[in-house]
Amino acid sequence: MRRQKQVNFNLSIILFLTLCSTSCLSENILMVTMGGTKSHKIPFWELAKGLINRGHNITFLNGFPPDFHLDGLVEITPRNLVGYIQNYTNWDLLGRRMKNLQPIPLFDIFRYPVEACDAMLNDHETKELLNSTFDLMIIDGAYPECALGLQYMYNIPFMYLNTVGFYTSSISRSGSPTPFSITPNFALAFTDNMTFIQRVANSVIHTFLQFAHAIVINVLHTGLRKNLDDEIPHPYDISKNVSFILQNSHFTVSYPRAFMPNVAEVACIHCRPAQPLPKDLEEFVSGGNDVGFIYVSMGTSVKTAPDSLQKLLVRTFAKLPYRVLWKYESTTIQNDLPSNVRISRWLPQQDILGHKKLKAFITHGGLLSMYEMVFHGAPGVVAPVFCDHDANSEKAKIDGYAYKLYLETLTTEQLLKAIHTVIHDPSYRKEALYRKSLLRDQKTSPLETAIYWTEYVLRHNGAYHLQTPGRNMGFMQFYSFDVICFFIGMFVLIKLLVRRYIMKTTRTQPTKLKMQ
Ligand SMILES: *[C@@H]1O[C@H](CO)[C@@H](O)[C@H](O)[C@H]1NC(C)=O
Ligand SMILES: *[C@@H]1O[C@H](CO)[C@@H](O)[C@H](O)[C@H]1NC(C)=O
Ligand SMILES: *[C@@H]1O[C@H](CO)[C@@H](O)[C@H](O)[C@H]1NC(C)=O
Ligand SMILES: *[C@@H]1O[C@H](CO)[C@@H](O)[C@H](O)[C@H]1NC(C)=O
Ligand SMILES: *[C@@H]1O[C@H](CO)[C@@H](O)[C@H](O)[C@H]1NC(C)=O
Repeated sequence: MRRQKQVNFNLSIILFLTLCSTSCLSENILMVTMGGTKSHKIPFWELAKGLINRGHNITFLNGFPPDFHLDGLVEITPRNLVGYIQNYTNWDLLGRRMKNLQPIPLFDIFRYPVEACDAMLNDHETKELLNSTFDLMIIDGAYPECALGLQYMYNIPFMYLNTVGFYTSSISRSGSPTPFSITPNFALAFTDNMTFIQRVANSVIHTFLQFAHAIVINVLHTGLRKNLDDEIPHPYDISKNVSFILQNSHFTVSYPRAFMPNVAEVACIHCRPAQPLPKDLEEFVSGGNDVGFIYVSMGTSVKTAPDSLQKLLVRTFAKLPYRVLWKYESTTIQNDLPSNVRISRWLPQQDILGHKKLKAFITHGGLLSMYEMVFHGAPGVVAPVFCDHDANSEKAKIDGYAYKLYLETLTTEQLLKAIHTVIHDPSYRKEALYRKSLLRDQKTSPLETAIYWTEYVLRHNGAYHLQTPGRNMGFMQFYSFDVICFFIGMFVLIKLLVRRYIMKTTRTQPTKLKMQ
């Protein structure tokens, strides 16, 4: 039954992609991500592949030189931006997290958008690009402000692909409601079901971050005016004019949200059924008395671990009866590895997660990894590092398919216990399979949905009829605080008038009586 559904799912994509014969539009689309980690490129690549199959030309501006070629895709990676990001991301995320510090210092978070924008705009490749013409821009919803300056120069419709699904800035600016009461900040370990104290904390942090963000974007705005055009409006104002938002979330793995019709959820756009593993990997994971294996990956932005953590992991893995496949980039560790552990700089993650002998996945809680985990029904252990990892892992924990650990206080015993719990308590696998069935139960695949709406925006010249006036309202107006204040004012006024009238009548009454 499930298999049947899966086959149809794939067939419909093929049909959809080949149906485009003569009626296809062929347009030039510019994609831009200023994301500081390479994983931001993945959803863009998938969308680009889909759009190229439909006959469009894609140019993709980003800060990571491509490591493969795709016909129809031109990647522009300005050398200044690439260099800036390489310098900037020379970070020790795990080490800082383990010392209970902000993984990225607050000042670094705030200087990034301004400096990255400056680096990108002051590069001849970007300047050359400004001489090309495009029909549509698709901009990363994380750090979009610099690209909004380019959008103003091209004067073409633009969409967001909101890679950090829990980051609500672009969503809320476009007029979809994101009340603090049910919208935990993407950097916090809260769910959408918060206690009163959590809601207080959530509101304070949202407000503080918005305030700080506004200061940073004012500086960025000055840079845009200097580098591009004196007339460029504030990026927040440009942002309101977004045509459509492709949201990297899905209510089965993220939270149910109130989205206007110009938002569609397309998470797992890159997910695909598992393929057989290369022969040597297959032999490794099937070896060792055939008890199964666990897979460890802390994502693309965490390349190596501090010495203490590396030792802790090796010590723990040595005690396991399972084979351990570990995505890791260190070259010094090779000699100390126990015989049941194999490391590799790159591993076919989805083929591994879909492997029937996989017992558990140890992950950092990156959004794409969480979706792959659910798509393949793999239970796991999550140790969040930075950005949205805490929010992602908290949801996985309450959904019951992941065991959450804290790097700040991690010990060998805790990690062993977590791995054993996930493997031996059947509820973890059961919940993972349940989420998988929910995530896969969709009317159209995420890629089809994304292509449909992109072409919808092209067909209808920006599809501005989807926009809501809510995007032009301030917080007070949108949530009717001004109306509530009006009613309170009216109530107070009427009460005053009534009291004055009563006082007047009771004061005049006795005199009348006396006169009689
Ligand atoms: C897309 O690129 C091809 C090859 O460079 C070109 O021939 C074609 O005209 C382009 N399409 C559009 C819509 O510009
Ligand atoms: C990167 O850092 C080095 C050393 O601090 C500096 O010389 C170089 O100019 C920086 N590159 C960029 C693109 O900022
Ligand atoms: C862009 O086009 C203008 C006018 O055609 C030309 O003067 C300028 O040199 C071009 N800029 C770049 C960076 O190619
Ligand atoms: C929205 O963007 C389009 C395309 O750039 C532009 O023509 C239109 O004037 C913009 N609307 C507003 C309100 O800025
Ligand atoms: C929300 O949390 C409260 C208290 O923790 C709990 O009683 C309630 O069932 C939760 N609601 C949902 C929908 O999860």
